Amino acid sequence: MNQVVRTMMRHKTIRKYQKRMPSKQTIRTIVRAGQQAPFASQLYSVILSRDRFKQAYRAPLLFTICVDVHKFELIMARRGWKLRTNDLTLLLFGIEDALLMAENMVIAGESLGLGSCFLGFAMYRAENIARAFHLPPKVFPIVQLVMGYPDEDPPPRPRYPLDYTLFEGRYPELTDEAVAGAMRRMDEGYLEQDYYRKLRTKIKQEGAQKEEFSYDDYSWTEHICRKWGQWYPEADDLLLQLERRGFHIARRSKKD
Ligand SMILES: Cc1cc2nc3c(=O)[nH]c(=O)nc-3n(C[C@H](O)[C@H](O)[C@H](O)COP(=O)(O)O)c2cc1C
Repeated sequence: MNQVVRTMMRHKTIRKYQKRMPSKQTIRTIVRAGQQAPFASQLYSVILSRDRFKQAYRAPLLFTICVDVHKFELIMARRGWKLRTNDLTLLLFGIEDALLMAENMVIAGESLGLGSCFLGFAMYRAENIARAFHLPPKVFPIVQLVMGYPDEDPPPRPRYPLDYTLFEGRYPELTDEAVAGAMRRMDEGYLEQDYYRKLRTKIKQEGAQKEEFSYDDYSWTEHICRKWGQWYPEADDLLLQLERRGFHIARRSKKD
């Protein structure tokens, strides 16, 4: 393993931070390394906030990572062009660009001794975020990333076995044994770290009379099933957030 791979293999999300503010130079280095990610069209912008008392996990830095078609339209206008491409295509290419950049920032940060945590629900608060940061139309906050010097040192979290991820030549028939093995790897790994007990997190099972799981057996697969087995059956909320930011993806099924 070389230094880059070692840094990547040691990755862990950090949820406790020192008060120390990273220097301006460190921040610039991290964002420059982010920018150096491959891009389809550089359809992104990053808004920095430095108010740890308002930020998740009291992290000193908060990066709001946006899909940004607006500033590209300004370039098109100067060349005498108008956007013709549909908003779904622009959004998906923009997400690809923005997330590659964000992960480059994570890796650069870790190589400089910083830790980070993504915040995935920004997209559901897009309107509020847009108001707070004066985002123009066609700028959509896709994810946020808090960062700072770690005040904890958890072990790396498990991943699926490689043979549940990497398939050569063709997609295999996934046996019960393979599925169970992948689940075991994840659940045992998270339980070993007491992950959900430490986070004090358990997603409620809607309609259940009482909780069947304790922190001794509530682990990743139960958590993630409760998430995607219950939340957001309709796309309307998200489509509305996108529409209000100028991305017209599909007609919503109900009126607001
Ligand atoms: C897109 C995305 C959204 C996430 N959202 C949140 C979040 O809202 N809150 C949080 O505490 N962690 C969040 N995480 C962190 C994940 O929980 C974490 O990456 C995962 O459990 C794997 O752990 P590790 O990063 O320590 O390896 C998010 C991660 C990603 C990639």
